[in-house]
Amino acid sequence: MRILVTGNQGYLGSVMVPVLQAAGHDVVGYDTGLFADSVLGAAPTDPPTIRKDIRDVQPSDLEGFEAVIHLAALSNDPLGALEPQITHDINHHASVRLAKAAKEAGVRRFLYASTCSVYGAAGADAVKEDSPMRPVTPYAESKVRVEGDVHDLADAEFEPVFLRNATAFGASPRLRADIVLNNLVGHAVLSGRVLVLSDGTPWRPLVHAKDIAEAFSRCLTAPRDAVHAKAFNVGTEANNATVAQIAQEAQRAVPGSTLDITGETGSDPRSYRVDFGAIRAALPGYDASWSIADGARELAAAYRSAPLTRDGFDGDFVRLKVLQRKQEAGLLDAGFRLR
Ligand SMILES: NC(=O)c1ccc[n+]([C@@H]2O[C@H](COP(=O)([O-])OP(=O)(O)OC[C@H]3O[C@@H](n4cnc5c(N)ncnc54)[C@H](O)[C@@H]3O)[C@@H](O)[C@H]2O)c1
Repeated sequence: MRILVTGNQGYLGSVMVPVLQAAGHDVVGYDTGLFADSVLGAAPTDPPTIRKDIRDVQPSDLEGFEAVIHLAALSNDPLGALEPQITHDINHHASVRLAKAAKEAGVRRFLYASTCSVYGAAGADAVKEDSPMRPVTPYAESKVRVEGDVHDLADAEFEPVFLRNATAFGASPRLRADIVLNNLVGHAVLSGRVLVLSDGTPWRPLVHAKDIAEAFSRCLTAPRDAVHAKAFNVGTEANNATVAQIAQEAQRAVPGSTLDITGETGSDPRSYRVDFGAIRAALPGYDASWSIADGARELAAAYRSAPLTRDGFDGDFVRLKVLQRKQEAGLLDAGFRLR
């Protein structure tokens, strides 16, 4: 299948593209390369990539593709909170424009990278796909809006699928250090200390980047009836963990490191446990099998084998900081467009 992957040069895209290629797909990327140089270890080999902002996408960019995997976004909460309008423009408005362009160009399947953050501050029960969505950040709000608007485009020829990923973890050639396990293991390796600036009680479902890639790969070829216009939580109940449990796994992966849970009240109200039964039922044989412990060990090994410094870790791999640095250097304008 010929597939266009937006955001292919990001953290998840750099893991997903080889998985899609190994499944026999012909992959073309679409990315402005905001984090293309945030490389940990050996640089990945990118597929042919259209270097263009998704805010400028045209139906002609989508011609000849059977499917689109849409990952490109400003991908986290702090960034969204700082720049809510730009988050809205890229994550919501441009995503709907992309979906409309894809439909116009005759693309059949459109896989959208949504997030379990759409559930926000949920109650005690594990959330399912039909649970109320209570987004608490502009980032999560943008994802809810895309799901709604793109769902409206579904018809006999256009098959959108919404994959609500848990928070990712694990090694990627293009690392992100601003997601919880990657961050905690990095600090354990670099400073010998795992520090949690809250009481550690909020629930965070986690999933390995490779398990996300596998879910997308299987959704490409799943029968229409199994996935058409549906949303799926992507992850596993085994990785519904509290921040304190995640921190313990980070500490265990780095012998000699210490764990410090300060007990301060966190500013992040997200807390949710997630039910992942629907994706297992829709994609027979699919199971997100990477445990948090295995991911923590994988990350520790990747960090140790790379020439990594604390400043580099906190600067080169934190999305918000990279964007601010590129703006200061005149490489990006105020709207995060390439100059
Ligand atoms: N990583 C996670 O924990 C996680 C969890 C749930 C959902 N998601 C979603 O998965 C997707 C990928 O996440 P990621 O962690 O790989 O993020 P990332 O920041 O590493 O990658 C995003 C990619 O999109 C590109 N991009 C951003 N704005 C663009 C624009 N205007 N035009 C063209 N390209 C643009 C960037 O250059 C980058 O390569 C995002 O939509 C994110 O919201 C990620």
